[in-house]
Amino acid sequence: MTKVLVVHGPNLNLLGTREPHVYGTRSLADLNEAVRARAAKLQLEVADFQSNSEGAIIDFLHKETAGSAGIVINPAALSHYSLALYDCLQALALPVVEVHLSNIHAREEWRSRSVTARAARGVIAGLGFAGYELALEYLAAVEK
Ligand code: DQA
Repeated sequence: MTKVLVVHGPNLNLLGTREPHVYGTRSLADLNEAVRARAAKLQLEVADFQSNSEGAIIDFLHKETAGSAGIVINPAALSHYSLALYDCLQALALPVVEVHLSNIHAREEWRSRSVTARAARGVIAGLGFAGYELALEYLAAVEK
């Protein structure tokens, strides 16, 4: 089965309790469950990973790239400054979809700039959990 990587950046482990007016009341476990359910329908296998550490995320991507067909990543705050993660996504040469739960363009000015997005095929922002599911739909389609 085609494998895709689903990566969640810093503070996304707090989903459900973190600023629920912005990120909703469902947890990261709920998100991973929704992702797996949609992936199963698309005949995709998912390896998901969350870390609050930039280095751990980069190590995971290096390790898991072989045998993977694409990456769905919400780099969270790393989007706004991590050139190391940008370089990593560029280096891996897999299709990347960057996802943000909230509409980063409708919030603080500094959030609207994503340095990692330059390494992505596309960016989905503001659609909550649905953004991850749409990203999977895209990766399943480009795989065919
Ligand atoms: C986020 C938006 C980022 O600006 C923020 O730092 C996050 C979450 C989102 O999913 O909306 O942690 O990536």
